[in-house]
Amino acid sequence: MLELKHVHKVYRVGAFGGGRLRAVRDVNLTVEPGEVVSLIGESGSGKSTIGKMVLGLTRPSAGSITFEGTDITTIRGHSARKEYYRRVQGVFQDPFSCFNPIFKADRVFEMIRTSYFPETSTPVWREKVLDALATVRLDPDNVLGKYPHQLSGGQLQRLLIARALLLDIRLLVADEIISMLDASTRIDVLNLLADLKERGLGILFVTHDLSLGNYVSDRSVILRKGAIAEMGPTSKVFDNPLHPYSRHLLSCVPQLHRTWAEVDAELEADPPEDVVLPVATDDASAPLLEVEEGHFVGIDQG
Ligand SMILES: Nc1ncnc2c1ncn2[C@@H]1O[C@H](COP(=O)(O)OP(=O)(O)OP(=O)(O)O)[C@@H](O)[C@H]1O
Ligand SMILES: [Mg+2]
Repeated sequence: MLELKHVHKVYRVGAFGGGRLRAVRDVNLTVEPGEVVSLIGESGSGKSTIGKMVLGLTRPSAGSITFEGTDITTIRGHSARKEYYRRVQGVFQDPFSCFNPIFKADRVFEMIRTSYFPETSTPVWREKVLDALATVRLDPDNVLGKYPHQLSGGQLQRLLIARALLLDIRLLVADEIISMLDASTRIDVLNLLADLKERGLGILFVTHDLSLGNYVSDRSVILRKGAIAEMGPTSKVFDNPLHPYSRHLLSCVPQLHRTWAEVDAELEADPPEDVVLPVATDDASAPLLEVEEGHFVGIDQG
């Protein structure tokens, strides 16, 4: 359904745009209907950049991104983009920033109606909204007619997911959607993602939290410095991590609270001896080795 092939993103940085920052390097991945794929990695590893490219918010510097057979970089014009967003939607970390504080929160539904379903009658639309709210397990009496500041982060997050469900979405890009929620609400939102998956949605689940990746996803992609360090079925990646980075990360499992920087420092001080990977010769490509079916390991990226 979604396929990224040799995707790169280089940002211009520095006062005169003279510097180059390689944010995403040679990424290949797919998301199928009904599949949750976690993108896991430390801050700055390129997760959001991948999400933004999939959402058409920034263009890849090289490579292709196809969704249901169409290269999304060829999508031009208002109506083609609108059609794309009927199928692909994103939900982000900070739900508060997605709502205008001076309007009632359910205005986001009305905006979808105006742009996508102007012909739909009010009673039919109301049914659709109630249906979407039921799917995200929100009580309409608690949320309709309220202002954003009267709602919790978890409620706003679920409103945004309900809004996406009013469209005929096939793919949801969820970028750190639960980092700002408290523990009990987190589980609710994770369970909601599991329901959506049951309904056949593909989900690209971006997280810097390893344990969350493990909890929800069918496949996991571990990113390091913009390139894939390891990727495969979540059970294989977590039970049998092969890249030194993921190995080290996962060897710390009962103490998942440790930071990625700590892991990096420890890895440097005490590299695992039993893993030797060939080193890629140029810095642009990031080749992967298939070590068992569907389980890929990055050839080291320095
Ligand atoms: N618009 C931009 N212009 C220049 N550099 C950028 C831009 N957006 C991101 N970057 C840089 O690209 C790299 C990857 O950023 P990205 O936001 O994708 O990381 P991330 O994995 O989502 O991190 P986090 O966990 O902190 O959200 C970082 O070094 C970041 O500073
Ligand atoms: Mg991010």
